[in-house]
This record gives sequence, structure tokens and C-alpha cells, in this order.
Amino acid sequence: MSTTAIPVICLDGPSGVGKGTICLAVAGHLGWHILDSGSLYRITALQFSRLFPDMAANAVDEAQLVEMASNLSVSYRQINNELVIMLNEEDITQLIRSEKMGEKASQIAVIPSVREALLARQRAFLQAPGLVADGRDMGTVVFPESVLKIYLTASPEERAKRRYKQLKDKGIDVNLSALVEELRVRDDRDMNRKAAPLKPASDAIIIDTSTLNIEQVTDEVMHWVDQRV
Ligand code: DC
Repeated sequence: MSTTAIPVICLDGPSGVGKGTICLAVAGHLGWHILDSGSLYRITALQFSRLFPDMAANAVDEAQLVEMASNLSVSYRQINNELVIMLNEEDITQLIRSEKMGEKASQIAVIPSVREALLARQRAFLQAPGLVADGRDMGTVVFPESVLKIYLTASPEERAKRRYKQLKDKGIDVNLSALVEELRVRDDRDMNRKAAPLKPASDAIIIDTSTLNIEQVTDEVMHWVDQRV
């Protein structure tokens, strides 16, 4: 089915900008499906680190990685404003959210054949009445014909502060300057890779969320939804 038949809203942007939360809120308002594309890279990273502990992504046989990404047995359940992710029979929702898995996912996402292997799987999320998709290349590569493309941005310092607060609230001890540095490294890799680098689509609306809370960002996105969808 063509991507114009069922509407897609793309939410792209760097790590820690709040795409996932906004994606769930917007999909909740509209009663649409969601695609958390980063989770697919994170799940591939999780499988990879279980099969090849201590091995760097670029040291492993690419064909093995591609086969792994192609054969993931994953299922998603959208329960109220939460996404529950199952790998085989295992609930991996929390497991894939670690900084370590984000970093590994970013390393794996550099490999063009892995991205290619995950492309059809991402497009298969497109179901009526509509899809809100979040990631890095939703508007540029995965759903270029989407009806609305939003690019969310915020400074690394602001994103790190938000992440710091989230982790502290969970009782996890972290260092703010280490978080800023990790985000910078990840931004740099995601923005400068050859395959589908993170960048706003030429027709994307850019929203700087640095001084906005979640409700304000959701309102701003919904304003554009009302105009375009
Ligand atoms: O959105 P996230 O933090 O869960 O994504 C983890 C990594 O996966 C991110 O650093 C880069 C990669 N990724 C990607 O390359 N393309 C996407 N559409 C989504 C994520």
C-alpha cells in the first residue's frame, strides 16, 4: 500500500529530545498506531550483545548481523500511554532503554545493510487509521511521502539534564557531564554516518524544545496536525 493512502506523521530528532513521549501523546490524541524505530536498532543491539558479548559492532560478520536483524521475533503492545516490547516471550521494554544499549544501537545503525534489513519491518507498522513514527530518518528515508514531518531539537546540555533527572528519579546514580559527553558522541555518529544520517527533511517543521515542557511540545505538534492532516 502506498504511504499516501494511510497518513503518517514523522517525528525525527536527536537522542533524548523526547520523541518517544511526544509520539505516544500525539498517537493517543489521534487514536493512531506508533512506530518506535529506535527500539528495532536497540533490540538488534541487545541480541548482538547477548550472542557476542564484549565484541564491537564493527568486528562482527556483517551477514550475521543482517540475518539477526531480519529474523527478530518482536511484538509491540500499545497499552494506554505505554509501549510494551516483547522479544520472543521476554518483556524487554526496560532492558533496551539503557545508555549502553542506546550506544550499541547507534554503532549498529551505521551499517547500511542492517538499516536495509529493518526498512520493510518499519514500513509494516503502517496501518489504518494512521501512524506516528519516531526516529532519525522517518521523514528522509522510511516515510518520505508522509503528510507531516516534525524535527524536534534541543541542546545536548538540556537533553542531558532531562535524562539525568529521569535516571535520578529512578534512583540511578549518574554523572551529568558524562551524560552530555555521551549524547555528543551519539549525535556526532548519528548525524555524520553515510547511511540515512540524522537531519531534518527539507520539508520538516523544526521545533526547538529546549524551553518547552511535554504538554507544550505536544500542543505545538497537534497545532501542525490540525493544519495539515
Ligand atoms: O531513538 P533511540 O535513542 O532509541 O535510537 C537508538 C539509536 O538507534 C540511535 O542512536 C541511532 C539509531 N536509530 C537510527 O539510526 N535510525 C532510527 N530511525 C532510529 C534509531
